[in-house]
Amino acid sequence: MDGTFTQNDIRHIVEADKAHVWHHLTQHKPFETSDPRIILEGKGMRVWDQNGKEYIDAVSGGVWTVNVGYGRENIAKAVYDQLMKLCYFAQSAGSIPGSLFAEKLISKMPGMSRVYITNSGSEANEKAFKMVRQIAHKKYGGKKYKILYRDRDYHGSTLAAMSAGGQDERNAQYGPFAPGFVRVPHCMEYRKEELGLGHLSGRDFGIAAANLIEEVILREGPETVGALCLEPVTAGGGVITPPDGYWERVQEICRKYDILLHIDEVVCGIGRTGTHWFGYQHYGIKPDFVTMAKGVASGYAAIACCVTTEEVFEMFKDNAEDPLDHFRDISTFGGCAAGPAAALENMRIIEDENLLENCTAMGERLMGNLRALMDKHAVIGDVRGLGLFCGAELVADRETKEPVSESQVAQVVAECGAQGVIIGASNRSVPGRNNTLCFSPALIATADDIDAITQAVDAALTRVFG
Ligand SMILES: Cc1ncc(COP(=O)(O)O)c(C=O)c1O
Repeated sequence: MDGTFTQNDIRHIVEADKAHVWHHLTQHKPFETSDPRIILEGKGMRVWDQNGKEYIDAVSGGVWTVNVGYGRENIAKAVYDQLMKLCYFAQSAGSIPGSLFAEKLISKMPGMSRVYITNSGSEANEKAFKMVRQIAHKKYGGKKYKILYRDRDYHGSTLAAMSAGGQDERNAQYGPFAPGFVRVPHCMEYRKEELGLGHLSGRDFGIAAANLIEEVILREGPETVGALCLEPVTAGGGVITPPDGYWERVQEICRKYDILLHIDEVVCGIGRTGTHWFGYQHYGIKPDFVTMAKGVASGYAAIACCVTTEEVFEMFKDNAEDPLDHFRDISTFGGCAAGPAAALENMRIIEDENLLENCTAMGERLMGNLRALMDKHAVIGDVRGLGLFCGAELVADRETKEPVSESQVAQVVAECGAQGVIIGASNRSVPGRNNTLCFSPALIATADDIDAITQAVDAALTRVFG
């Protein structure tokens, strides 16, 4: 820490937090007798809390966001310069960083063409849902309005995004939800017995898991299904990498029934999965919508996007005489010019520093280290991941795959924290399945950082499980 804060300043900050701040996804009762963690500073892969304790941040800001690491002067400067030139104008007009960012983003997304800028992942997903609904009216007399989403996937915290939410613990007590959202089964090979597909493996399993989506489409009536919304790799639902053959078959099914494919890249996007800019690009998919948020500007400014094809875009200008025919939607803060200014610089850093390549190499190291820990710790039932985006599922028994308790998972996370490493875990997501440790270090991670993270996990598992 740079020593800017006195002890009094820090106490004041903690007390003000305890008195007035409502933390996200947090039960506040424990703070009646203890202090919440307050992060004061960050540099590179590291952050410091109110006690001056240094941590390696193995989750990029807690929720897989700060892809290029903390303290990037170039992004701060780009944002400063832009704010001095023009802080804001509604996106009904254009802006310099908006144009340049859209051009740059599309150059990384062959087949895609239009960028609709907004300010959160939930909102980006809602834009796609609204486009699907409007297309249903424009092309199909309102009939093809249903949106399919997958068990264990998450698409955001607003009500329509939750209506597409496959995590029942996130949704509990917040219903009723919007009609017209229909759930399809997950595709997790480790828990294939839940799908009745225990007898299949590899590509056969992947195709069969995708066929479960087709069954839902046929049950609902293909003429009523407008879109399928999926995460390329499920994030908070347990870091679920798709099985071989899955995406190919999903794409085939969408084409067969004229269903738009919406890929939620809020976590996977902008390099998180390594080698490619987006998760879907690993699988040769041609989506109709791609939504993204977190890593777009690495948290230096709030920006999210819903990206579509020219074909989708064309549908919204083919009847210019009708005053209701275009996309009648606006996001006030989608016009904040700091967002695309930060996003442009963020992409430049990823290119200049070869972070897609580093992400692949360090992701392989992280997966290798975690897999090696399986030999020592029977409690690790499965390790999954792609790039610097990995999960380790903890089970009480490898045979039955019974999850360890949530309090044991919390103890592992706390033990890592005590050693100066912040890791994550699936949190209030799928009932009985909040048992996956999550890792998503910044794309700048070095081999030493990765080894320090997995050494902390090793020691934490020994302390909690022996
Ligand atoms: C896959 C996915 N989609 C959407 C969202 C929602 O993004 P936001 O919190 O920016 O609204 C999240 C957030 O964690 C996410 O993980």
